[in-house]
Amino acid sequence: MGENKRLSFPFDVEETEPEEKSEIKRLFNYPKIDLTRVGPKGYVMPRPYIEQAENIYNLSIRPSDVFVASFQRAGTTWTQELVWLVANDFDYETALSVPINHRYPFLEIYMLFTEWRNDCLKNVDIMKSKEQKEKLFKMLEVNSQPVTEKLEAMPSPRFIKTHLPMSFLPPTIVDTAKVIYVARDPRDIAVSCYHHARLLKILDFVGEFKDFWKLFVNDCFIRTPYFEHVKEAWNMRHHPNMLFLFYEELTKDLPAVVRRVANFLGKEVTPKQMARLCDHLSFENFKKNKSVNYEDLREVDAVTPNETFIRKGKVNGWRDYFDKDMAQQAKRWIEDNLRGTDLRFPHVIG
Ligand code: A3P
Repeated sequence: MGENKRLSFPFDVEETEPEEKSEIKRLFNYPKIDLTRVGPKGYVMPRPYIEQAENIYNLSIRPSDVFVASFQRAGTTWTQELVWLVANDFDYETALSVPINHRYPFLEIYMLFTEWRNDCLKNVDIMKSKEQKEKLFKMLEVNSQPVTEKLEAMPSPRFIKTHLPMSFLPPTIVDTAKVIYVARDPRDIAVSCYHHARLLKILDFVGEFKDFWKLFVNDCFIRTPYFEHVKEAWNMRHHPNMLFLFYEELTKDLPAVVRRVANFLGKEVTPKQMARLCDHLSFENFKKNKSVNYEDLREVDAVTPNETFIRKGKVNGWRDYFDKDMAQQAKRWIEDNLRGTDLRFPHVIG
């Protein structure tokens, strides 16, 4: 393969089933959600993803790039901040003043905001004050424009966030750059995604948790099937440029994870640096840290009042949401998907 040869995106795109479409219409208040299935595993992707899928697949990767990848709500932001501070010699001044989504372009975020942007632009004159308008335009610039061109122009080292499965990323990614993937018990992910889908007006989920769980476990929610996503990364975990983490490990022993990340990035951490970093990353501090809590979305009316991006931060919080039948179904589903693999979620109950 020549160095500059452009690859075609290797996966077909199919329509979701009509029943799925009507269920999505029923459960999500935002009317413009339009989902497709991509590739042999049938990953559920919003239609605008397709427009840039090949550009993302052909992104030119640099050896100094650091990717933080995950299924959504696995503790990505937490991991991103940890990684960024270790890699950037604990530059708290920048970390506390530059929002995390400006430090980490989010590869496929445009796919969720494309339609919303069009709506906002139609209504902007009647709705917003001058200051709000500026904030809105900035937010739309970060969230609704494809980042591939922006990334070309970015100085190294680049820090990049993605929730795409590994197979949608450039095929040589781990041979060239570093990837840190974080996984989490899918039951806690489902609960967290449910709240997140209620938080974001671009989704505006109006069903009960039970409805959401059905979508999730039947591989009908965005970026599912969950286990395929995780297994793609898990199967690459022995590659020297891949570090595979679990949310549950960060919760249980944050210093141990910091040491693993530092080792992976070739960095040293003194006991004093460790203490400050763990304090900075604590749930309480994170929740009030404006650089990571995405509360700025509230100022541009992109989120609903009763939900927050940094929410509970608990392992096994799913127990408050699952009835007996759902818990049994989840247990069987997890067992079925883990059978024949050595993937296990640490420190979880049930
Ligand atoms: P919950 O909704 O279960 O609370 P992501 O960044 O991938 O979207 O993940 C969000 C999840 O990580 C949320 O889970 C959020 O509360 C949790 N989280 C974020 N920062 C955390 C921290 N410092 N400690 C523990 N959990 C954190």
